[in-house]
Amino acid sequence: MQGRDDNPLAIDQSALVAALRASAPYVHAHRGRTFVIHLPGEAAASPRFVDLIYDIALLASLGVRLVIVFGARPQIDAALATAGLTPCFSHGVRVTDAAALACVRQAVGSLQMAFEAHLSTSLASTPMGGARIATVSGNLVTARPLGVVHGVDHGHTGEVRRIDTASIDAHLARGHIVLLPCIGYSPSGEIFNLVAEDVAGATATALAADKFVLMHPGTAMHARFAESSPGLTLEAARALLDADNAGLSGPDRARLDAAIRACSTGVERSHLVSFETDGALLRELYSRDGLGTMVAADTYDAVRTATPEDLGGVLALIEPLAEAGLLVARSREAIELDIEHYVVMARDGLITACSALVPYIDEGVGELACVAVHPAYRGGDRGAILLAEVEKRARAADLTHLFVLTTRAPHWFVEHGFAASTIDTLPLAKRALYNYQRNSSVLIKPLSAV
Ligand SMILES: CC(C)(COP(=O)(O)OP(=O)(O)OC[C@H]1O[C@@H](n2cnc3c(N)ncnc32)[C@H](O)[C@@H]1OP(=O)(O)O)[C@@H](O)C(=O)NCCC(=O)NCCS
Repeated sequence: MQGRDDNPLAIDQSALVAALRASAPYVHAHRGRTFVIHLPGEAAASPRFVDLIYDIALLASLGVRLVIVFGARPQIDAALATAGLTPCFSHGVRVTDAAALACVRQAVGSLQMAFEAHLSTSLASTPMGGARIATVSGNLVTARPLGVVHGVDHGHTGEVRRIDTASIDAHLARGHIVLLPCIGYSPSGEIFNLVAEDVAGATATALAADKFVLMHPGTAMHARFAESSPGLTLEAARALLDADNAGLSGPDRARLDAAIRACSTGVERSHLVSFETDGALLRELYSRDGLGTMVAADTYDAVRTATPEDLGGVLALIEPLAEAGLLVARSREAIELDIEHYVVMARDGLITACSALVPYIDEGVGELACVAVHPAYRGGDRGAILLAEVEKRARAADLTHLFVLTTRAPHWFVEHGFAASTIDTLPLAKRALYNYQRNSSVLIKPLSAV
């Protein structure tokens, strides 16, 4: 057996354990969920393709119900070129005459086999060792002709008419990965070439998928939205699409549009993830900070640092809780003085949740203070989202621990990774202010580096 030190693939064992543990909540959350993943034809032509397939197979092994919808634009163009034909587009949409359809059939069929072949790998020397992935396809998408648009007959170019959700659900229930090409069939028995993003979006909506993932080339999207935590709201995404100066490429706009449409029609979250960044799909789905751009349906409010304009809203939220003894009473002046420590979530001008991070720089710890969610909005993950945001900020400030003092919600904090602690673990300045009459529980949470 090869010695561990000689093995070029050996990884730090404690890092492995930490990574597995850190991803565990996402594994639990995603098991049994339905994800629709759109892969453009460019992904299949990329040197990352095989690794991407391995990552997709891993998702399946982790219990995610997967539908993969693939496009084939470059492959169709190549087949047309080989046949001596010139690709024909009208207003950005491919026109598919009989000769072009033959190329579409050839390109899509060959790509489908490439997917099936890679997903059949089970060599022990690959990440697919031990994997037994079954894929299925079929006449699952019904199409109709696009017809004559702007005076141009689009021939065998079609649009989605219906998705056979019952069959897809049955395949998913049996643990199969459903592979959908950019092809649909009409009740009259014709074949239609479809826009893969449309097939993927329609499938995500029809299945009420938990996630719709659109893979894209390059990293421009992520670089641009890396700071949008916890993602773009539908409103922000729509504003971006409407802005003339957003600087998005045509394909990026099409993907963002598909993400928005899915989130407007019942899909909770859409993710735009680069297929060119190694492991981006896994990081987006199984790590706290992700590595993509998320568009979230309107269940989420924007999370941001509070401004003086939020003072009234924050006070309205916390005053009743202070009166009931759940929070320490804070004056308007005290909040105003520390306003940049406050993080708020707002919806249509209403502050739905707030929290504060009070750093104790010398001790390298932070206090998670004033955690409050509007009573009408509780149970919608806002508490957890705020906590994640405060943790992110604390890490960015090089703090190693967060502590919280609470009278009525210790269990909530324990369920979110805090452990009971004692007053003497508090920073000196905080200890001096501890109110023995309130008798709050002290809880502390280490901030992992992962
Ligand atoms: C605690 C609080 C911030 C949670 O906010 P939230 O947005 O409802 O939280 P989430 O949606 O992320 O979590 C909801 C879960 O927490 C549970 N929960 C809520 N309050 C709880 C409490 N005091 N103790 C234990 N669990 C609690 C809910 O029952 C729910 O669990 P379930 O889905 O299994 O039933 C909110 O209830 C609140 O504002 N409480 C009053 C203020 C307070 O006590 N703040 C803490 C002191 S700093």
